[in-house]
Amino acid sequence: MKTQKVTIHTLRTMKERGEKIAMLTAYDATFARLLDEAGADVLLVGDSLGMVIQGNDTTLPVTLDEIIYHCRAVARGAQRAQVVGDMPFMSYQTSIEQGMANAGRMVKEGGAHAIKLEGGAQHAELVYRLVAAGIPVMGHVGLTPQSFHQMGGFKIQGREPGGKDRLLDDARALAEAGAYAIVLEGIPSEIAAEITAAVAVPTIGIGAGVGCDGQVLVCYDMLGMDDSFKPKFVRRFEQLSLRIRTAVQAYVSDVRSGAFPGEQESFALDPRSATPAPDARVYSTVAKK
Ligand code: KIV
Repeated sequence: MKTQKVTIHTLRTMKERGEKIAMLTAYDATFARLLDEAGADVLLVGDSLGMVIQGNDTTLPVTLDEIIYHCRAVARGAQRAQVVGDMPFMSYQTSIEQGMANAGRMVKEGGAHAIKLEGGAQHAELVYRLVAAGIPVMGHVGLTPQSFHQMGGFKIQGREPGGKDRLLDDARALAEAGAYAIVLEGIPSEIAAEITAAVAVPTIGIGAGVGCDGQVLVCYDMLGMDDSFKPKFVRRFEQLSLRIRTAVQAYVSDVRSGAFPGEQESFALDPRSATPAPDARVYSTVAKK
């Protein structure tokens, strides 16, 4: 049976039916396949890759070519999920023409089904033009990591006087311009719930409480890949850092002791005398445990 792909219409219908949207970041084909198979509705090729893949302190150094490279890989791995390419810092801020051309590259070269950009009302015209050109746009308001220096760090937004109204205005402006969904990042739950009620398009929260239409997390964070990173808004559903270290220690130990490779993993001159390879990809010391 052919898989029913998630589209902007699927997401709108989910909001209308009160079904929550599960979005995750993905950066390569293998993860994209796994997350897609596990039911994630949207895969965001986030500029967070600048931090979790490249090891930078912020998302600012990420280039459009880098996002496109990862987007292409994710698009190959995803079957059902919608693939969203994140427009990196300064790939859309200098002019409408620049934003249009670069978003076009994300779709043509990266295979993205939609793009995401950070900011509110100031980008309404660009959103309108992109949508008119056939490129679905996901907005992103609140804590916008590309404005790291302007915000003075990764800080919760909207608590200052007039903050709630500014966020509401930004979300409304994006929705009116044609954005099909809006990420709400790092804002008080009460404001996120109010925005969610105020706009017809789905809101996807990260550090914005349960009142959003969906949630997004960086996949490396929710899988517990980095022991040293546990902000309040992240829930670790796994602790892969521990499991990966244990598996690698077993591999190192087996290599050093000569237990790997065994006969099963080796090739004989006469193939008829070879021991068949094990079925599962579970290796010796790990399997013994
Ligand atoms: O870059 C990213 O991963 C993001 C999400 C966390 C929303 O923008």
